[in-house]
Amino acid sequence: MKNSTVFDCSILELEKHSHEKGNISIVENGKEVPFNINRVYYLYDVPGGEDRGAHGHKELRQLIIAASGSFDIILNDGNNKRKITLNRPYVGLFVVPGIWREIINFSSGSICMVVASHKYDEADYIRNYEDFLKFKKEI
Ligand code: TYD
Repeated sequence: MKNSTVFDCSILELEKHSHEKGNISIVENGKEVPFNINRVYYLYDVPGGEDRGAHGHKELRQLIIAASGSFDIILNDGNNKRKITLNRPYVGLFVVPGIWREIINFSSGSICMVVASHKYDEADYIRNYEDFLKFKKEI
């Protein structure tokens, strides 16, 4: 997805099953997400105001959810940038491959849960921004 743009990334509102003792939202394989789920990971104990995740992915698709607290995601395709604030446990951001993204302004105690299409593969990461721009220009 070298030609992907920030406008291919979308907000997914999950169903919220409300209950007097709390709520539950569900992400099921192939149902709420347009890919097969192979991995779930989550960032936690991130100091308030801290930034994470300045990198791109070549193939990985992700649904990013603020399971607790809030943070902002800066999406960048090399041409356009979008800033999206996640602060509801039933709202996710679907990020397509080929997007440079940074997660910033973590509120203290927040949990960033990522539902991902592939297992961890360091070769799928683009960690240098100049390399990312080169990747986007390759045909
Ligand atoms: P990384 O993706 O670089 O974190 P971030 O970009 O959000 O700051 O991951 C941090 C470390 O954790 C890195 O050394 C790789 C390791 N890691 C795994 O081993 N498996 C995983 O699924 C993930 C996401 C990271």
